[in-house]
Amino acid sequence: MTIFEAYNDTKKQLKNAGIEDDVFEAKQIIKHITGYSNSQILTRYTEVLTDFQQTSLTLILKQRLARYPLQYILGKWDFYGRSYRVGVGVLIPRQDTETVIENCLELIKDTDSPEILDLCAGTGCIGITLACEKKDSKVTLVEKYEESARYTRDNIQLNAPNNAKLVMGDVLSKVASEKKYDLIVSNPPYVTKEEMANLQAEVKYEPETALFGGEDGLMFYKSITENYKNSLKPGGKLVFEIGYRQGLAVKEILEENGFTDIIIKKDISENDRVVFGTLI
Ligand SMILES: C[S@@+](CC[C@H](N)C(=O)[O-])C[C@H]1O[C@@H](n2cnc3c(N)ncnc32)[C@H](O)[C@@H]1O
Repeated sequence: MTIFEAYNDTKKQLKNAGIEDDVFEAKQIIKHITGYSNSQILTRYTEVLTDFQQTSLTLILKQRLARYPLQYILGKWDFYGRSYRVGVGVLIPRQDTETVIENCLELIKDTDSPEILDLCAGTGCIGITLACEKKDSKVTLVEKYEESARYTRDNIQLNAPNNAKLVMGDVLSKVASEKKYDLIVSNPPYVTKEEMANLQAEVKYEPETALFGGEDGLMFYKSITENYKNSLKPGGKLVFEIGYRQGLAVKEILEENGFTDIIIKKDISENDRVVFGTLI
């Protein structure tokens, strides 16, 4: 089978299985098994797959048709222009989260050497991006689970080894540290109990500990706001990624905890996605 035939066959099988982005996914899979770039594939499409490549393709398709996430199959995924290691045990970075980055960068653009805390780090995509984009920042990332933390560590090493560090910890427990931050950011688990029962097939492979935010999805917002507000410097900002229906509820949590200038921002799909406030 040639590369061209393999691409067409992969695309067809993905489409028949109801996978929406069949063209994009087929291209990613062919790139993965051949090790070729987009332009190499275009010039070498008549090459015949080796037995090894053919077997890899069969195995990958079998997994993908069972709705195993493409990102886990590839073992890496891009976020804000950088590559992150992903796999079983860690949440796959979402494009929506880039809205969090844009807002954080705007909030710290005039702060010299900001101290940043990223709670619920997962792959580390938020903290690591901020460390890379704001080079004079110092970023601490907090993660509770070792299954996720092994990816955080690898990704720090890969992308921001000099100004980002991981601390293992439970954000639901009271914080003892005296350290104060200019910006605390978190994309915590925020899926409600009702939503957990109706997850997309691929999302069911991601860790429940990265998704479930309690009955109403707000458990982490309440705890983090209460536990970490005293860890902000005067004028410091708390930034949350939120579920698209949680804007007003999270705004209220910030208000109850003394935050001012609370703003809800939308993502590129026009859904509420970020809430942030200032503590004077
Ligand atoms: C929604 S994921 C976000 C991951 C990453 N920040 C992102 O934006 O892709 C939430 C993360 O919080 C971690 N987590 C869950 N409960 C936690 C806790 N009590 N303390 C610290 N981290 C926790 C999960 O393991 C998961 O990595």
